[in-house]
Amino acid sequence: MSNNSSAELHGIIAEYHTVEEILAAAETVREAGYTRWDCHTPMPVHGLDRAMGVRETRLPWVVLIAGLTGGGLGVLMQWWMNAIDYNYRISGKPDWSLPANIPVAFETTVLFAAFAAFFAMWIANGLPRWFNPLSRNARFARATDDRFFVAIQASDPMFDQDATAAMLSSSGAHAVETVEEPDETSRPPAVFRGAVWSLVSLAMLPLFLVAMARYNTSDKPRVHLVPDMDFAKRIKAQAVSDLFADGRGTRPPVAGTFALEDMEAVGADPAYYTGKLGDSFVTDFPLEVTPELMQRGQERFGIYCAVCHGDDGRGKGMVAQRAAVLSPATWVAPTDLHTQPVVDLASGQLFDSISNGVRNMPGYSSQISYQDRWAIVLYTRALQRSQAASAQDIPEGVNLR
Ligand code: HEC
Repeated sequence: MSNNSSAELHGIIAEYHTVEEILAAAETVREAGYTRWDCHTPMPVHGLDRAMGVRETRLPWVVLIAGLTGGGLGVLMQWWMNAIDYNYRISGKPDWSLPANIPVAFETTVLFAAFAAFFAMWIANGLPRWFNPLSRNARFARATDDRFFVAIQASDPMFDQDATAAMLSSSGAHAVETVEEPDETSRPPAVFRGAVWSLVSLAMLPLFLVAMARYNTSDKPRVHLVPDMDFAKRIKAQAVSDLFADGRGTRPPVAGTFALEDMEAVGADPAYYTGKLGDSFVTDFPLEVTPELMQRGQERFGIYCAVCHGDDGRGKGMVAQRAAVLSPATWVAPTDLHTQPVVDLASGQLFDSISNGVRNMPGYSSQISYQDRWAIVLYTRALQRSQAASAQDIPEGVNLR
């Protein structure tokens, strides 16, 4: 409040000695129609709220409205971001679906509601305020001990210094006093203000440092608060290392050995490792055909190929189906493995396509072992055969379901 005038009136207080007196006085003041007043008692007084006609706080409504606003904005924000402004395409999921957006909407609901409760409470109570003028009144100090007080503010529309004082006296008050706005400043003490300003300035420091770092370069390593395993002792490829006598981090293969993965590179069994002999693809199958190998091939085909080519090899796997819906311009449909050109491919060429990919299809040499690639070739052959099978092809005793 104002801190210049020395005689500005804050309000009038009336002192009572018992619970009964303050209850009666509260009813009198309420019936007189005052709105800006309060009772101050040394302990909770039952029935005082009712006597004063205190209505229930409207804060819950403010919080409810703020919470709904927060939840609505949270949903709106995500809808705009994910469905309109920057579409997410993940595993064929819809751009927009409510369940995925619940957590963030929940958070914004809580955030808005909490801020509304906090700030509405401050505003409704006229805070922040350094102290209440009543606390500067000597008589009023007993409100925390053994006296009951009614305080009517001068800002009440009904307030009239003489009439209000008379009304309070006739309500059984033992003393009636005016309370002036204190002459002293209501600003916090200089020490306090100094401390707040220092803290605020200090809080700016990190921002300042961040800004400085953004516009400067440095040859020092960056500050690393959580090292995790970022600085593990290891040797980078091609780096110098004093661990070895020749000072090289990268080690040559041990003389006279080679890695199993390098079988292909060293030219061992080219039919098995490349599907080729010289320049032409092999047509013979380089492994012994067993039921286990066939089963392995069926399983691997289900894992690696069916997503695109479909379980039946017709090119209608899940990925292909979803792509047909989205129909991106760059999409190339997986080949139907039962078309004559594919049926006519040499086994070695099938093996080569799986290993190195073909046109738009990626290669799988890093995921699928040599043996498994041949198993897939075997199963693909069985699949193709199944489409043109006759009754004689079904082995004795097989359950046709
Ligand atoms: C990511 C989807 C995808 C997967 C997985 C996939 N393919 Fe393909 N495949 C394709 C596409 C697309 C083509 C057609 C490529 C083109 O014509 O550009 C193709 C073509 C082929 C062809 C025809 C080759 C030719 O010479 O015409 C064969 C055979 C084949 N795939 C076998 C397989 C096998 C076996 C697997 C499992 C190891 C597999 N594919 C996994 C997408 C896939």
